[in-house]
Amino acid sequence: MSNDIIKLEHIDVTFHQKKQKIKAVEDVTIHIERGDIYGIVGYSGAGKSTLVRVINLLQVPSAGQITVDETVLYGQGAVQLSAAQLREKRKDIGMIFQHFNLMAQMTARENVAFALKHSPLSAAAKAEKVRKLLELVGLEDRADNYPAQLSGGQKQRVAIARALANDPKILISDEATSALDPKTTKQILALLQDLNQKLGLTIVLITHEMQIVKDIANRVAVMQNGRLIEEGSVLEIFSNPQNELTQDFITTATGINEAMMKINQQKIVKNLPSDSILAHLKYTGAVTDTAVINDIYKQYQISANILHANIEILAHVPVGEMVVILSGAAASLEAAQTSLKEAGVELKVLKEGSSEC
Ligand SMILES: Nc1ncnc2c1ncn2[C@@H]1O[C@H](COP(=O)(O)OP(=O)(O)OP(=O)(O)O)[C@@H](O)[C@H]1O
Ligand SMILES: [Mg+2]
Repeated sequence: MSNDIIKLEHIDVTFHQKKQKIKAVEDVTIHIERGDIYGIVGYSGAGKSTLVRVINLLQVPSAGQITVDETVLYGQGAVQLSAAQLREKRKDIGMIFQHFNLMAQMTARENVAFALKHSPLSAAAKAEKVRKLLELVGLEDRADNYPAQLSGGQKQRVAIARALANDPKILISDEATSALDPKTTKQILALLQDLNQKLGLTIVLITHEMQIVKDIANRVAVMQNGRLIEEGSVLEIFSNPQNELTQDFITTATGINEAMMKINQQKIVKNLPSDSILAHLKYTGAVTDTAVINDIYKQYQISANILHANIEILAHVPVGEMVVILSGAAASLEAAQTSLKEAGVELKVLKEGSSEC
């Protein structure tokens, strides 16, 4: 059995509107492994929703091949399953959305039960299953509430319970937390992470926030104008982004831009002394900020004034970044920079001191 539960290969989706052709997805290849929490990021209109709708053939592509859990759903220009087979296959893939899409005239319990309408289970077994699902998402005491009586977070929990009713192997989340406040977002993300671990559920998570990817995903794809522009493990992408757009998403997520604005206002930075440089250091894994600073101090008598430091744990690996003023003799500064780079620290000089100010 292949470890990839979803294989999208050379997917194109072209929409024809009047005389216009819109290439919403162009030559996208993505492999998603069983148990992954796979993030797809990109700005509005990048093609994210269109791409994930291809996974269960809600959107039939114009070209490419789709394989889900060893079954080819689409290839050689045609759908490869009968309508009945496709209906069965779609049960493996649950979906949740930004606006929950619950039925207003039904209670939480009824909304979840609705997904079991065609299930061969007995009425009693269905009721028990619904109860368990609501318990799983922490809503057992809200079963008889209507959507209007529930908060956004609670509505999304009902939608998650409904999406899980047919025991899917895959859950697709299309901006499921975009309408929620930060605290509720965190709770829903924690629930998704829990379901991923407890049920071995593979999760495809569309978002325009890299912070969300960083919090729970293990791999990430970045899309722009219908194309995949970067793909990799969260650690790879965060520690070494290649594309400008990816860097954009990441700097927003780490808050380094705001930190830099404050740093640039500081007197010591405005009037940086001639024996000093302002540097941005980035390091991954075993290297830690104190070790970095101690070493260069010991070896080169360089003093360091840390203005900003941040460590994130990405996929169990610490990734640190630091903005620091390094001061010392010119030759020592040079040597220290070389030695840091050799130790695997990514170093960028942001500003050099001048004697004039
Ligand atoms: N049914 C459709 N008919 C015509 N064009 C469409 C259709 N669906 C999507 N598009 C177009 O395809 C492109 C990609 O849209 P898509 O909804 O996939 O983007 P997205 O990345 O999900 O954006 P958002 O973050 O705003 O949800 C857009 O230019 C959009 O206008
Ligand atoms: Mg979308």
